[in-house]
Amino acid sequence: MMRQPIVTILAHVDHGKTTLLDALRKTAVAEREAGGITQAIGSTEVPRDVLEKICGPLLEKFHTTVDVPGLLFIDTPGHEAFTTLRRRGGSIADLVVLVVDIMEGIMPQTLESIELLRREKTPFIIAVNKIDRLQSWHSVEGSFLENYEKQSDHAKQLFEEHFYALMNQFSQHGFSCDRFDRVQDFRRNVCAVPMSGKTGEGLPELIAIIIGLAQQFLKQSLQTTDKSEGIVLEVKDVSGLGKTLDTVIYGGTVRKNDYLVIAGSTFIITKIKALLVPPSMKDLRTEKHFENVDECAA
Ligand code: GTP
Ligand code: MG
Repeated sequence: MMRQPIVTILAHVDHGKTTLLDALRKTAVAEREAGGITQAIGSTEVPRDVLEKICGPLLEKFHTTVDVPGLLFIDTPGHEAFTTLRRRGGSIADLVVLVVDIMEGIMPQTLESIELLRREKTPFIIAVNKIDRLQSWHSVEGSFLENYEKQSDHAKQLFEEHFYALMNQFSQHGFSCDRFDRVQDFRRNVCAVPMSGKTGEGLPELIAIIIGLAQQFLKQSLQTTDKSEGIVLEVKDVSGLGKTLDTVIYGGTVRKNDYLVIAGSTFIITKIKALLVPPSMKDLRTEKHFENVDECAA
């Protein structure tokens, strides 16, 4: 069986990670955050039927079907103070979406993320975000390619200039990238998907590319195993519950009353007293209603 791929979103501060996930969830986590800055790792599960709905007719065009059971998105903070959280989010990723604001290009935490991806050899795609801010560009929800055709020559030209200036920046850092529909060899070249988290433009292509890459190149590593494994994102004291761990389980099945071994600077062995699962399409950070379950599988 194939488990859901873990997709981590990395970017410089304010380049639009949380807004991208909001567009997927159609909620507004970014607006509710203190100062609009993400200060923790969030996770959101997007099930297969929602992925199919977002991609729509694009799946047919790409000759693909959604075989993964869903996607688990991990949102990370972009503020420079949170290097450890970015590293933790990056290290569990099967695939990373590196978000870059088309107007700002590569910034310090974009660079930090690039170095992380290079070190961990994590496959990634680039979400070229905020294209709605380009002068004369009329951004609407839905397919980027369809919308591109409807732009004026002036808008198209401006877009191409900004887009290829960014691709050039990436090539200076040793990555050969191109617009997703112009990529021939997906092993050598990195796909860049133009999009807007604000309007939802380009989301169908972004999701279709993530699914296509995961199904083509990650099938082996996504096979579920018997060994229960996971990663602790955060340790919290929750009133009424005591010590709780925000955890992503990516292997096997954990059950209530199982022993849990946490390997940090010291080993901690403890019994799982309760397993609380957030509903799909909700962010772990903002969700208040968890389902109490007896077991939880990757
Ligand atoms: P941190 O978590 O603090 O690193 O920021 P972030 O990358 O999650 O950025 P966030 O989604 O909070 O967005 C930052 C600001 O950019 C907000 O004011 C968003 O409304 C705005 N924004 C995000 N995406 C877009 C977009 O596609 N277009 C436009 N015009 N604005 C956007
Ligand atoms: Mg954020």
